[in-house]
Amino acid sequence: MDGVIFVIFGASGDLAVRKLIPAIFELHKAEYLPKNFAVLGVSRSDYSDEAFRSKVFFANEFIEHQDKENRDEEMEKEFARRLSYIPIQTSEPDDYAKVKTELTKLDKEFNIGGNYIYYLSTPPFLYETIPACLAAHGLNEENDGWKRLVIEKPFGYDLETAIELNKNIRTHFGEDQIYRIDHYLGKETVQNLLVTRFANGIFEPLWNRNYIEHVQITNAENLTVGSRGGYYDKSGALRDMFQNHLMQIIAHIGMEPPIAADAAAIRDEKLKLLKSIRPIKEEDVPSQVIRGQYTPSTIDKERVNGYREEEGVPKDSRTETFVGLKFFIDNWRWAGVPFYVRSGKAMPTKVTEVVITFKDPPNALFRKEKQVYNDNNQLIIRIQPNEGLVLKFGMKVPGAGFEVKDVGMDFHYSDLTDVHVPAAYERLLLDVIKGDATLYARGDSVEEAWRFVEPILNAWKKNPEIRVHGYPAGTWGPMVVSKLIESDKVTWRNPCSNLTADDNYSEL
Ligand code: BG6
Repeated sequence: MDGVIFVIFGASGDLAVRKLIPAIFELHKAEYLPKNFAVLGVSRSDYSDEAFRSKVFFANEFIEHQDKENRDEEMEKEFARRLSYIPIQTSEPDDYAKVKTELTKLDKEFNIGGNYIYYLSTPPFLYETIPACLAAHGLNEENDGWKRLVIEKPFGYDLETAIELNKNIRTHFGEDQIYRIDHYLGKETVQNLLVTRFANGIFEPLWNRNYIEHVQITNAENLTVGSRGGYYDKSGALRDMFQNHLMQIIAHIGMEPPIAADAAAIRDEKLKLLKSIRPIKEEDVPSQVIRGQYTPSTIDKERVNGYREEEGVPKDSRTETFVGLKFFIDNWRWAGVPFYVRSGKAMPTKVTEVVITFKDPPNALFRKEKQVYNDNNQLIIRIQPNEGLVLKFGMKVPGAGFEVKDVGMDFHYSDLTDVHVPAAYERLLLDVIKGDATLYARGDSVEEAWRFVEPILNAWKKNPEIRVHGYPAGTWGPMVVSKLIESDKVTWRNPCSNLTADDNYSEL
């Protein structure tokens, strides 16, 4: 494998400390990294190499969680030796001369061969500046080894800014050098959606409007926004979770079979699917999109702050911490099949799952008289936690008569392997080294996802009076969200939770 230097901009920040350095270390430990590698931290804070090593590695919380018995101190020291740091003013083009000098030095010392990954783990306002400054010093040129740019979300703030950002970055880096990270694509189970669908003959024939009644996606987090209020209030659930992570999951569920298992073919099909989603018209937003915000609550006897009480959140904020919506996909496969998606913070449990509900059998021989809808036949794809699949169907209860009972055939992903399953960031970083962009979002599909979200954002902006429904922290979101779905005689599937929370719903 090619040698590589990871250049992490924003190296003293939360993401680098909590995710990136641990991921690079785990890859090194599992011997996935090339022998010749180094990490160069870059940011404004003034650290020495030693202080940086201590902050991001020796004193990093993840080190405490290492398996004590199998620790290899020599290997850890060797890893730390490959970490170095330079402070620069990130928006000052001249300072990038220092980056260049440092890279040349490290390249020689660790025999890298000119391959660099620039990871932008910085506030988004630097996403245009850093590539331009790198280019000003020729650090984007691939004469002697490849140069790749990894960009964190948010990729743009709306459609216009996303198009602008794509355009600006592409003046310095080619599309094939740009890796827009969406950590959901690094999750094994999101990738497994493709394998489930396209490596089996049993699901795909049913995967269409003829057999599927509707599709539900639930993404719930039990955490509140906590200390991230300052960021979150400018974002909201639609931008923070839906435009990126959930639209990627939707693309994996809905796309047509790609002609090959490679980045271009898979990303072409995803783009096509995103283009087929019927936009929600601004005037339909109040009925088709429910926004909610969590209010104070008592969960298991403990008081939990409402969103407006969180640090950094204005007392009259109308930012949504929950979004629920219904949409259709206008193509041959999905015509007429409703998709329901909800995502929220401060919900009863942490879970992301996709529920495919199949149509009733044509003749309801054993259905009880009053039973209006049969949810016997569901495929539940658990993205996280307890990753796996459950296939639900009806079986006869032993004894007289024909009583039907739901049973579930369960598969747990953890049963499949006991080798190290790379965490999302590990997998994604490894792919950049290999130059495989399959699990990265291409510029056109990011824009397409914004195109879908845009009328919703516009409707909320133009009509701030559109309701923000309160839901007590620890509940499954605003009550009205059930109307979105119940009108079609089905209900949301709420995974188990033993929490007890308040039930004082309010309008905000
Ligand atoms: C991030 C969002 O992209 O994803 C966070 O900014 C959210 O608000 C997080 O909590 C969820 O990721 P995961 O992997 O914990 O589901």
